[in-house]
Amino acid sequence: MSDDSLLGAARAAALDAADPLTAFRDRFVIDDPDLIYLDGNSLGRLPRETVDRLAGVVGDEWGRRLVRGWGEGWFEAATRIGGKIAGLIGAAEDEVIMADATSVNLFKLATAALRARPGRRVILTDDLNFPSDLYVLQGVARLAGPGYTVRVVPSTDGIHGPAEALATAIDADTALVALSHTVFKSGYNYDMAGLTAAAHRAGTLVLWDLSHSAGALPVDLNGAAADLAVGCTYKYLNGGPGAPAFLYVRRDLQTALDNPISGWIGQRDPFDFALDYTPAPGIRRFLTGTPPILSLLAAEPGVDLLLEAGMVRLRERSVRLSTYLLELFDAYLAPLGFRLNSPRDPAWRGSHVSFGHGDGLRINLALIRDMRVLPDFRRPDNIRLGIAPLYNTFTDLHTAVERLRSVVIDRLYERHDPTALQVT
Ligand SMILES: Cc1ncc(COP(=O)(O)O)c(C=O)c1O
Repeated sequence: MSDDSLLGAARAAALDAADPLTAFRDRFVIDDPDLIYLDGNSLGRLPRETVDRLAGVVGDEWGRRLVRGWGEGWFEAATRIGGKIAGLIGAAEDEVIMADATSVNLFKLATAALRARPGRRVILTDDLNFPSDLYVLQGVARLAGPGYTVRVVPSTDGIHGPAEALATAIDADTALVALSHTVFKSGYNYDMAGLTAAAHRAGTLVLWDLSHSAGALPVDLNGAAADLAVGCTYKYLNGGPGAPAFLYVRRDLQTALDNPISGWIGQRDPFDFALDYTPAPGIRRFLTGTPPILSLLAAEPGVDLLLEAGMVRLRERSVRLSTYLLELFDAYLAPLGFRLNSPRDPAWRGSHVSFGHGDGLRINLALIRDMRVLPDFRRPDNIRLGIAPLYNTFTDLHTAVERLRSVVIDRLYERHDPTALQVT
């Protein structure tokens, strides 16, 4: 890729220089600028602010304040930071709370939804959903009793969600539709409002997994009249490995739904130590046990950065970046045998793009081991490039494509063993 061409490195640098959001990159710990990190859709980068925050939480709050910390902000942290996340996903502050892992929250809300729709025994989902979600839904159905089933509607091409087939499949026996808003392999993004409306016409509840859309694009839960949602904070929210997840319950549903893991932190007054459970009146009833304060507070600076940049502006930047990436793809990668395994139209895509290749796994290994590019790989052939609009740049994408080309043209991938165990 010569420098003077439309697709050259100079153009990438000019696009970066012209974009006001590029400055947010400096708010992250980046001590190795030659490493091209395109896995923020799996584990987001470390915000600089988090380093100081954690030091303060450990040294001052835990170290000096000890148990008094619970009365000095720890107890409210899950609702307080949840309220900030609400600002990223189009919900009211009192509709979102941080808790547990995404899988656990999915269990809680799916079980609650089934109980709220007695007599209906079908949970509807698709085959693009994240496997943990399917496993949890299968467990929920088993626990609910005989006759309960998870019906998986297949995608026709493995890229686009079967939105119409799902809408048609919803009937009077469907208790719940549970889907990833942005699917983890192709990045396909469902029309949340359309599908929710179709479900509501049949009296069915909808539960959205926002793990790949929160912080990646503006989500409008209230605008879509969404019932329930869950999501993680370690991807685009930059909360850190294993950071606590969040859950959303629309305000008018909160008292109608029952937390199936009714623990003391969701009790109306935990420090009454009453022997019988009475749920807290609002979103706090969906908590169970003691929140992991260190990781909870570590997740806050990442959320603050997204709020400061603004999801609408970040989305515009994400689309500019992915549009540029697809220009590079068409010019340089498609001729080398790569396929686009994501929707081409950004309106139907989250913030990651998947390229397919018959040698995808070995190419991915060569990128990581030889070329200092970190994407990830999802079977059968997806090289997934996560575009985190807070810190990824046009230059990142340009360099990644350049290195991807040399892996294929110089056949560097041939020396990598595709059976080797990989973490990403
Ligand atoms: C879409 C989606 N849902 C659920 C999960 C699982 O999240 P957790 O491990 O927090 O339960 C993931 C993990 O990557 C995911 O991508």
